Amino acid sequence: MARKLIVGNWKMNGSRQANQALLEGLRAGWAELPTASAADAVAVAVAPPAVYLEQVGGLLDASEIALAAQDVAVADTGAYTGDISAPMLRELKVRYAIVGHSERRKYQGETDAIVAEKAAAALRHGLTPIVCVGETLQERDAGQALAIVQAQLQAVLAHNAAQLADLVVAYEPVWAIGTGRTATPEQAQEVHAALRVLLQEAGVAHVPVLYGGSMNAANAAELLAQPDIDGGLIGGAALKAADFLAIIAAAR
Ligand code: G3P
Repeated sequence: MARKLIVGNWKMNGSRQANQALLEGLRAGWAELPTASAADAVAVAVAPPAVYLEQVGGLLDASEIALAAQDVAVADTGAYTGDISAPMLRELKVRYAIVGHSERRKYQGETDAIVAEKAAAALRHGLTPIVCVGETLQERDAGQALAIVQAQLQAVLAHNAAQLADLVVAYEPVWAIGTGRTATPEQAQEVHAALRVLLQEAGVAHVPVLYGGSMNAANAAELLAQPDIDGGLIGGAALKAADFLAIIAAAR
């Protein structure tokens, strides 16, 4: 069984003091986790707000937890006020970059084309893009869930055909994010299987597909037991060391 990947998306939360406390809790609890065999080991990353990447990266030194960014610019340099480029993230030892999160699609107007270009920027500089796809409740109720998420993923696959092996995908039903209304394992598996078909057709069936949307200590094991759920992209539960560790333990 391939290693699961658990990524904590802190979103716009934290402070230098809170970050230190959270990471101290993670490191202390990490040592208490039952020793995992190599096969059961779980890859873990945390994505703090960009202003804290250097602090958190320093606190993660010598730990098994990798650093992730919550976004990445399309361009590598230039007149793009407020943007942060992939080369800059690499300087901060960032390994993953979340792209196309539904909150950025909603509030920042990120289109499928922009998301595809962000993924390209990450891949161009050796970052692993975590490409988020997900339907709204209205789209699901209209029976369009699979069509929506497949179109979102296809835009990225078509634009980055030469470098897909290093991709990670995250299925995050918008109606499950921050709501406590988690997709059922069956609902999630159905979408993950449909995404897997596209990945297989692109020759990259191995690309991990994470689930995100109110995954927590109570439901993680059942979701992660699904054949096409390869890990989790965790929001609220990532801000509490005990909850995040419980999800990591469930992924083993
Ligand atoms: O990116 C992960 C996030 O969207 C999920 O949030 O709070 O539902 O776990 P949450």
